Amino acid sequence: MRKIQIFDTTLRDGEQTAGVSFNLQEKIQMAQQLETLGVDVIEAGFPIASPGDFNCVKTIAEIVKESAVTGLARCVEADISRAYEAVKGGVAPQIHTFLATSPIHREFKLKMTQAEVLASIDHHVRYAKQFVNMVQFSPEDATRTEPDFLVKAIQTAIDAGAKVINVPDTVGYTNPTEFGALFRYLRQEIRGFDEVIFSSHCHDDLGMSVANALAAIENGASRIECTINGIGERAGNTAMEEVAMALHIRKDHYQAETNIVLNQLKRSSDLVSHLSGMAVPRNKAVIGGNAFAHQSGIHQDGFLKNPSTYEIITPELVGVSQSTLVLGKLSGRHALFTRLADIGFQLKRGATTTV
Ligand code: KIV
Ligand code: ZN
Repeated sequence: MRKIQIFDTTLRDGEQTAGVSFNLQEKIQMAQQLETLGVDVIEAGFPIASPGDFNCVKTIAEIVKESAVTGLARCVEADISRAYEAVKGGVAPQIHTFLATSPIHREFKLKMTQAEVLASIDHHVRYAKQFVNMVQFSPEDATRTEPDFLVKAIQTAIDAGAKVINVPDTVGYTNPTEFGALFRYLRQEIRGFDEVIFSSHCHDDLGMSVANALAAIENGASRIECTINGIGERAGNTAMEEVAMALHIRKDHYQAETNIVLNQLKRSSDLVSHLSGMAVPRNKAVIGGNAFAHQSGIHQDGFLKNPSTYEIITPELVGVSQSTLVLGKLSGRHALFTRLADIGFQLKRGATTTV
């Protein structure tokens, strides 16, 4: 089994969700739950963004002992120094620096040439390396970057000392076939691909972020960036609970495992939903209110005979106490009689007795 690291960015990209803001106490509560959940790396914030963000990252780095803590920094010296000041008290400090590489970002946002982008990556990764060994570099908008230039950008970061290369699908543009092929291409073209950790960071604009992350795993990624409940900028990020559960339930296919303590998923989801004020849709995979609910008669009858007829995940696995049989107009006798027995009635043909 390959080990897939889980990098959680609920506290950074998750907080970029429109209308969401966490205070220090809330961030500490979530960071402690993420530690209990077994995530490998917590991205606790963007330290240069504000004194409050700096303080959150610093406090979390000092409190959390079982997960590494990282902070985000643009390719700007002041950002990187500030990120280091925030994470340095942690057990395994990391710095995550990023610079956009796509033509649209280079031309309109950065106003930089390709050569300038490469020089900045080289300079800032080396700058970050003075402070920590675990420097992560992300070529923002990687999936809309010319593939040959993406190789140059990543190679520059690795040659400057980056230990983690994260490939962001910043605008949720790619699809599993294309993203898998991109990882295969990088694997083939990048010197030292196997000596660094390759990671994915997918947004959900076309609803494919989880599938894209899984395609990255199948093609060489050994770390996934994700958030609880998939919260994040615009349509959100890869949902951690979905990736972790897909790898677990389909380990026959993926041959990979994570350190996630699966029965902490529901508790983590409830906490993030409560603190972000974002309700989880009832039909959300893995942790939605209906994920273990059955209403139609045929399904209820099958479930009562053997739950695995209609459930591939047991509720206990994610920390939900039990499945529910909801009585509705499509329900059948088997579920009705079972519910009546549960509440103390044995129904016999033509008669009702209380037991
Ligand atoms: O979506 C993105 O590209 C990001 C980067 C900072 C990794 O969040
Ligand atoms: Zn993002």
